Amino acid sequence: MKPEAFDVVVLGAGAAGLYCAATAGQRGRRVLVLDHAPEPGRKILISGGGRCNFTNLHGADPARYLSGNPRFARSALARCTPQDFLALVERHRIPWHEKTLGQLFCDRSARDILGLLLAECDAGGVDLRCGHRITALDRAERFRVETDRGTFEAPSLVLATGGPSIPKMGATSFAAEAARRFGLGVTPLRPALVPLRFEGPSLDLMQPLSGVSLPVRAACGGARFEEALLFTHRGLSGPAILQVSSFWREGMPLALDLLPGVDARDWLLSLKRSQGRSEARTVLGTRLPARLAAALAEGMGRLADLPDRSLSALAARLSDWQPVPSGTEGYAKAEVTLGGVDTADLSQKDMQARSVPGLFVVGEAVDVTGWLGGYNFQWAWSSGRAAGLAA
Ligand code: FDA
Repeated sequence: MKPEAFDVVVLGAGAAGLYCAATAGQRGRRVLVLDHAPEPGRKILISGGGRCNFTNLHGADPARYLSGNPRFARSALARCTPQDFLALVERHRIPWHEKTLGQLFCDRSARDILGLLLAECDAGGVDLRCGHRITALDRAERFRVETDRGTFEAPSLVLATGGPSIPKMGATSFAAEAARRFGLGVTPLRPALVPLRFEGPSLDLMQPLSGVSLPVRAACGGARFEEALLFTHRGLSGPAILQVSSFWREGMPLALDLLPGVDARDWLLSLKRSQGRSEARTVLGTRLPARLAAALAEGMGRLADLPDRSLSALAARLSDWQPVPSGTEGYAKAEVTLGGVDTADLSQKDMQARSVPGLFVVGEAVDVTGWLGGYNFQWAWSSGRAAGLAA
């Protein structure tokens, strides 16, 4: 059968692929989007607890993205900013609110953001076809995509199939494999924004506390975040831990301050003088969740009976606890994938491969990974738009 011809074929109907397709379509390009999933934008629908944290007011700051080249994202982020995307959200009359730390969410549902993207694709005459399994991909004069439901050709091809996080939703490392076949470099992939697992005495402490949450300062690999920590059956999660997980490598300890802003040693020693008859667990319970206070003070009685060195050791546990994770919970639980197509092989202006004209890579498939809090969608919009203006 004769291949169907388009100007642009976008592989992947997620955030980056749909926004790229809409942008190119609205420039008058004939655009086809192919996806193997039965419907588009599945990760958008589950994002932000179903409300999609669609951008962050600080999302234009390249320092909030991890990449082999921290300057790579700058150009695309400057040309499509959080304010630009917000203006589009408002044009579509989608009600939104700021939660914390500049994170913008839909008031109603993530479905509003998917609806926006599909309406923008419609406005650009984009041909969207889901349920297509890609069976072969190559390039002669044009790119040629073979699927189980037909063959397609175009002078421009956009890899927008994301990373392997959450395989049960259809996520794959297709983009990395395809990029390698076209001769592009791929930096090592690993799960990021992911809960951390522990073993031994650390897990013995954490497991019974499953469900307990508290604000902490968490640091690892030079990064530091003040957000909530959550104890789980396997170790630690919550925004603070997801954030540092992107910086964690095997064998590294975390540094956790369970009482940010408090000098724990001074606090405990002064309480020993002023309220020596109080039980350690009662005192800790004034600043920490009761179950955590009880676990940390286990075997300790009244403050007055504790030597200063025991209180100093307790203070160190409170303000500089250094548990060493045994691993992460893997792609099954990771919000994103760290690493991807090497930015050294892409133009930062339009995401085009330097050595393969007409080949573009966008979104999570690129070695650019945002912090938690709307940054990953902002990168999808910015990189998708940059490619859509050029493809
Ligand atoms: P995305 O994964 O969205 O899309 C890729 C598309 O390619 C999919 O439709 C997939 O079916 C398709 N595909 C994959 N392999 C294929 C193949 N071999 N053949 C054909 N098609 C293929 N970020 C954020 O900023 N705010 C938030 O609130 C959240 N919340 C959140 C919650 C959860 C549970 C997860 C897992 C992730 C988030 N994220 C997030 C991250 C965010 O979802 C992610 O960064 C973007 O969806 C990435 O967009 P892409 O378009 O690059 O990939």
